[in-house]
Amino acid sequence: MFNKVRYGLLLLLIALVSGCTDITNIDDDGESSSNGLDSRLQKLAGQMGTDNLQSIKEPPEAKAELGRMLYHDKLLSGTKDVSCATCHNLKHQTTDGQSLSIGVDGQGEGPDRIMADANARNPRNATIVINRGLPEYHAILSDSRIAKTKSGFISPLGDDLPEGLDNMLAVQALTPVIDRGEMLGEQGSEDVFGEPNEIAMVEDDNSPEVWRRLMLRLMEIPEYVQLFKEAYPNVPEEELSFVHAANALAAFQISALTFTDSPWDQYLEGNQEALSRKAKRGGLLFFGKAKCAQCHNGPLLSDQEHHNIAVPQIGPGKGEAAPLDLGRYHVTNQEIDQFKFRTPPLRNVAITGPWMHNGAYTNLKDAIKHHLDPEHALTNYDVTQLAPDIQETYLGSDDIKSKLLETLDPALITPTRLTEKEVNEITAFLNSLTTPEAQNLSSVIPDSVPSGLPVDD
Ligand code: HEC
Ligand code: HEC
Repeated sequence: MFNKVRYGLLLLLIALVSGCTDITNIDDDGESSSNGLDSRLQKLAGQMGTDNLQSIKEPPEAKAELGRMLYHDKLLSGTKDVSCATCHNLKHQTTDGQSLSIGVDGQGEGPDRIMADANARNPRNATIVINRGLPEYHAILSDSRIAKTKSGFISPLGDDLPEGLDNMLAVQALTPVIDRGEMLGEQGSEDVFGEPNEIAMVEDDNSPEVWRRLMLRLMEIPEYVQLFKEAYPNVPEEELSFVHAANALAAFQISALTFTDSPWDQYLEGNQEALSRKAKRGGLLFFGKAKCAQCHNGPLLSDQEHHNIAVPQIGPGKGEAAPLDLGRYHVTNQEIDQFKFRTPPLRNVAITGPWMHNGAYTNLKDAIKHHLDPEHALTNYDVTQLAPDIQETYLGSDDIKSKLLETLDPALITPTRLTEKEVNEITAFLNSLTTPEAQNLSSVIPDSVPSGLPVDD
């Protein structure tokens, strides 16, 4: 709350300041000293609450190692053909390169994965999981349906949420395994060996039984028993539950996938050489004239609020609203939240396309330009950038477009005019948010996992 008020006041201040002197209006040659550029950028970023990231407590090694195995083991899916890494592949920056993910019964890896025998795509784009354990996060997922409060967690699991979870990532790790499309499979389905999928036989509302059966599966494998013992030396074997697996999955993500050393982070720490002049000019636009930081502010470059920016509606849709996806509304049931999605944090955004909650844009520049004039972007949306089966799901009627635009965020109603050069500068700034190591995390992938199932898809 304090932060919100603070950002609000700062926004007002900036509006006043930039009304008198246009602090972002510099041209290439008019910039006499890079000193001036730096001081203006640092000042603007500071005004938007964009400080350094806090450091994180390194989880115990044995716990993270158990999590690394679980993350890559297809044994966690009822059908034994999907692991967390299927959709969050370390070879592909912890995502799958698809607009909308394909879970159970799909085939192939990353961007090459195809539907094969899968029933439907996931309604959302598989977000990266890098940095999601940072203390700055109040909530995760594109509608913030998992959040932390002073008294615990908010989650779609309601009363089924077990005790003893370490953090939001652990809460999250309980959910893909109970989702029939992502990892569980249908009742009566078979696993890849043609054996009955014993996990999926459970009724839809009995998540605790799914977790119990998964744990039985894991503890049939001596190597897992050993890994659990090493990770939890003080917990008797009969007391181990899937909560311990979830905490280990979270520990792995925190330990292997936290990066706070992008060029931008180095710049914030005082290394002025870390950014090119082009990226710095992009930063000035981002925090100034292009108004990006009205929403993408604070240390994560996200206000962690929800906005309707009128992204084209594609995919199977969510819950009772299908084929529409009403975003935050599915969490709050408040009409004013229809079509609102979380402002995405932007570190590593350049390497994690396709972009938006549903991967509607396969080009970063198009995702940026969408914001400059959402009505124009929506009207001229090029559906051919999508995979053919997703193209068919595009909801492009005038009716739906006007519904989306009716509640467009006020900040985006007046189009922002930027030249192509300025958009390129903003792109260079977004590129500077990329951690070099995040480009290739292959070395973290285990050669094999305790179940003996293939690690690759
Ligand atoms: C079938 C694909 C699929 C599988 C398998 C899958 N995920 Fe995801 N994951 C997604 C999608 C799609 C989202 C975004 C959902 C949304 O925003 O509503 C997501 C979101 C997340 C997030 C939140 C990221 C953020 O930005 O807030 C985390 C963390 C995560 N997944 C971890 C896992 C873990 C751990 C596993 C394995 C237990 C797993 N996922 C399995 C598709 C998948
Ligand atoms: C009114 C608030 C708001 C403003 C202003 C804003 N954004 Fe966004 N931005 C969002 C929201 C909300 C999304 C996610 C929409 C969705 O997923 O449907 C988003 C998505 C993005 C994405 C895609 C991220 C991803 O991981 O898929 C990028 C890149 C981006 N914004 C950059 C910018 C830039 C650059 C500007 C300034 C030109 C800007 N934004 C201005 C709210 C805003």
